[in-house]
This record gives sequence, C-alpha cells and structure tokens, in this order.
Amino acid sequence: MKIILTLYCAIVLTTFIEINQVHSLNILGVFPFPGKSHFFVFETYLKALSKKGHNMTVISYFPQNQPIENYHDISLAEKLKDIEGEFPDENSFWNILKVASSLVELGTKNCKTLLENKNVQNLWKTKSKFDVVVTEQFNSDCSLGLAHALNAPVVGLTTHALMPWHFSRFGVPFNPSYVSFMYLNGGTKPTLYQRLKSVIISAYLRLIYKYLGQRVEQNTLAQYFDDIPPLEELGRNIKFQLLYTNFVHFGSNIFPPNVIEVGGYHVASPKQLPDELRKFIEASQHGVIYISFGSMLRAASMSRNQLETILSTLSELPQRVIWKWEEDSIPGNPKNIYISNWLPQNDILAHPNVIAFYSHSGLLGTTEALYHGVPVLAMPIFGDQPSNAAAIEESGLGVQIDLKELTKENLLKKFRTILDPRFQANVKLLSQAWRDRPTSAMESAVHWTEFAARYQNFTFRSAAADVPFYQYLCLDIFCILLGIPAAIICIILTCLLNYKIKSKKKSKKE
Ligand SMILES: *[C@@H]1O[C@H](CO)[C@@H](O)[C@H](O)[C@H]1NC(C)=O
Ligand SMILES: *[C@@H]1O[C@H](CO)[C@@H](O)[C@H](O)[C@H]1NC(C)=O
Repeated sequence: MKIILTLYCAIVLTTFIEINQVHSLNILGVFPFPGKSHFFVFETYLKALSKKGHNMTVISYFPQNQPIENYHDISLAEKLKDIEGEFPDENSFWNILKVASSLVELGTKNCKTLLENKNVQNLWKTKSKFDVVVTEQFNSDCSLGLAHALNAPVVGLTTHALMPWHFSRFGVPFNPSYVSFMYLNGGTKPTLYQRLKSVIISAYLRLIYKYLGQRVEQNTLAQYFDDIPPLEELGRNIKFQLLYTNFVHFGSNIFPPNVIEVGGYHVASPKQLPDELRKFIEASQHGVIYISFGSMLRAASMSRNQLETILSTLSELPQRVIWKWEEDSIPGNPKNIYISNWLPQNDILAHPNVIAFYSHSGLLGTTEALYHGVPVLAMPIFGDQPSNAAAIEESGLGVQIDLKELTKENLLKKFRTILDPRFQANVKLLSQAWRDRPTSAMESAVHWTEFAARYQNFTFRSAAADVPFYQYLCLDIFCILLGIPAAIICIILTCLLNYKIKSKKKSKKE
C-alpha cells in the first residue's frame, strides 16, 4: 500500500513539475533608438523576461552596469548622442512637421549604426537562433529587417500610443472623428479644425516615413542582406504589438486582438524617500503639490512671465510644493517650495500627502500618477503630450491647461478643481480601477511574447491590414452607388434636353 502511494505521489509530482516547467526561450531585444526614457521602460520588461529564465540578448545604447543572470548586452553605447531635451517648446504645425522629419531621419542613422556594429553582425554571421525578437516600434523599421534575416517572429513595443504611421499596418482604424491624434489635444472629440489638421499632418507624416525613412533603411539593409521584403510588409507581419496605453486612461479604442494594451508595467513599488524630502512632505498640513515638466520645459527656458504666474499662483495655495528645478535657486526663494534637479518621482507620487501633480503630461509620469491616484494638472508642451493631456481630462484623472492660456486666474481655478476632495476621491477610485486587472500589465506583456515564440507559424493580424486603401474606405462601393444613379440621371437629362431642342426646332419650322 505504501509503495503504491509513494509511486502515485511521484507520478503526480513529476506531471506537475513538467506542466510548470518554463521552456526557456532565446530572445533578442533590438533597441536602435537612443532614447533613455524609452529604454527605461523596456528595461523592466526585458529584466522580467530574464528573471523568468529566458536567455536575453539585448542590443541597445544602455548596457547594464551590473551583470544580470540570463541578460547579455550588445552595446551601441559608444555611439550615444543624447537626443532628449532637444525638443522645441511650442507645439506649432511647423514644429510638428520639422521634428517628425528629423525623428525619421534619425531612425535611418540609427539603422546604419545598428548594422555596422561588429557584434550585431556576428548574430547573422554565426547564424544565431532566436525564438522571438522584441523591438521598439517608433521611428524606424530597420530592426524588422534584422529579425527577418534571423528568421525570427517579432513582438513590437512602444512607450506611447500608436505612431501615425503604424495604424495601417495593424489594421487599427484611424478615423479623425473619434480617434485621438497624438500631436493635438482634441482627444476623442476634436473640432472640425483639429480633424482637418490631424488628417493633413498624419498624411504628411506617413509620406515622410515611407520616403525618408523606410526607403533609406531598405537600401541600408540591402548592403548586408539579399532578400529583405518591403519593410511595410514586415511591419504587417509583427505578431503582437504591445502598446503602452490603457483604456482606463485613453478610453475604449478599437484594436485587433494582436494589438494589446500593457500600459503601466514600468511602475515600481515605491522605495523609502530621502529623509529631508520625507520630512518636508510629512510636515505639510494641507498636502503637497509636486511639479515636474520633465526635461521638456527647463527652468532656464521658461519665460519670466510664465514663471511669475506660476509662483504667484502657488503663493495663494496652502499646499507645500516640490519642484523639479534645474537651478540652485528660484526667484523669491519661497519657504513652501522645495527645489531639486533630481527627484525620485515615483516615490514622491506614492506618498499619501502628495495630492496634485502639475506636469507636462509625459506618459510615464502620468502613468505613475494614475497608479498612485494623484490628480494631474496637465500642461502639454510637445510630442504625444497633447493627446495624453486630453486623455487625462476625459478620464477624470485631471484637467489640462494650455501654455498659451497660462494666467494666474486660470491656473488657480484649475488647481482648485483638482484639489477639491470629491475630485480627489474620484481619482483614487480611477486608480483602483486601473490596477484592477485579471493579469498584471507585465504578466500580459510576458505572456504574449512567449505566445509569439510558441506559435510562430500563426499570424493573428487583422484582415484590415491587408485590404487596399480604396477598399478599406469603400471608395469603390461609393463610386458604384453614386456613379450609377448619377449616370442614369445624366442620361435622362440629356434625353430630355435633346427632346426639347428637337421639339423647339419643329415648332420653329412650323
Ligand atoms: C544565451 O545567449 C548568449 C548570448 O547571446 C549565448 O552566447 C548563449 O549561447 C545563449 N545560451 C543558450 C543556452 O542558448
Ligand atoms: C512552421 O512552418 C515551417 C515551414 O512551413 C515548418 O518547417 C515548421 O515545422 C513549422 N513549425 C511548427 C512548430 O509546426
């Protein structure tokens, strides 16, 4: 009896172990864009994969300082030129076009840097085998060519919503009447002027992406490989696209099942605050307002007027203020303002006394605020910030203020709105809803990556990605439906006219 029982236990145990054994994958990460804030997000995901036992090889500008188990760097770092902090501070039509062009051009340069690297070349020269390639979908498709040469399926990653040139490859509808456009703050209810602008800008951006980006990269790739299919086709073959958004913040957008929202996986559990900062926060009777405009609106580049407006508004509020400020002092050195050029943002936002976040509405900071339930006063400056700000307002996470309408009266009104206890309670609930998921964002990101490796031969892209443009918009149907009646009406009118002329001639003869 004992023997049977032992045998039974052994069988059950081995079956259980077999089921739970994670099959370790060989994963290649390709991050040719030298943006630190982007990589900061991806890094958490790459580390989670390595922690799960997958063998990671990561090409990036940001190698690890300390070696990590299962994590192998191929560093491009010697070529690093920090491109962040070089963005314009006005979201004008021309600035959008200019910056997008230079972004796409930068992608082509990064492509060259990537393929010139000897360690990267070794990957294909030694015929390295990867189960899946994970890569950023931002300003370049170069890495898709590399993945194709290595014969591996691809998972795309972002740290933002879809770029204008990525909608069509996934078959995601870009309908300007309700789809928020990254560069504008109209959200899901844009005005006629904003809709017109979004159509024109996105058409232009798609063109420059195709002709200044993909075409150049295709030529670069052709110097190394013989048979790279058109990059747009490789883009359509991406197995899963992991978007850094979430519907609680951005509303219910229409995505096919292979475009998956995993927004928020970078948010870490808070660490202990430095003593000085913790004391400053805990001594506040009415709570703390945290201000950071990221690297976008630097203290030095802020106009005197703007600064005075903000300072005099803050002086009317009872709250204490922590401000990410790059200089040694701030005009007037008010006692209730704590300045520092480096602040542990996530840990500050996690403190229950911090009750408002005045920000440029970058997606990462906004996500941290949402996670910790801190209302946001969004003052978007450039890039995707306008659409983040619109989403902040629409979701109830906060309110937005236009830099052009920055007056004391306006700002004070906005602050009073988000400091209202009912507003605060609603944001706490929103935060709870945001975290209330069947699986965490990270588990979901990891799962679909493994899925792409396990079922390489299947593709789950929407048929919408393959349909020609005119069919997608049903232009041919419209032509038929409008054309046939129009033709019939024309024929009838011509007949009538002819008949009239004839009868006139007849009556003249008589
Ligand atoms: C893991 O990746 C490294 C670096 O790419 C490679 O040298 C090594 O052979 C891989 N290990 C396994 C078990 O595949
Ligand atoms: C996937 O397709 C390839 C080529 O058609 C085939 O050789 C391979 O065995 C397939 N893989 C699986 C897991 O079925």
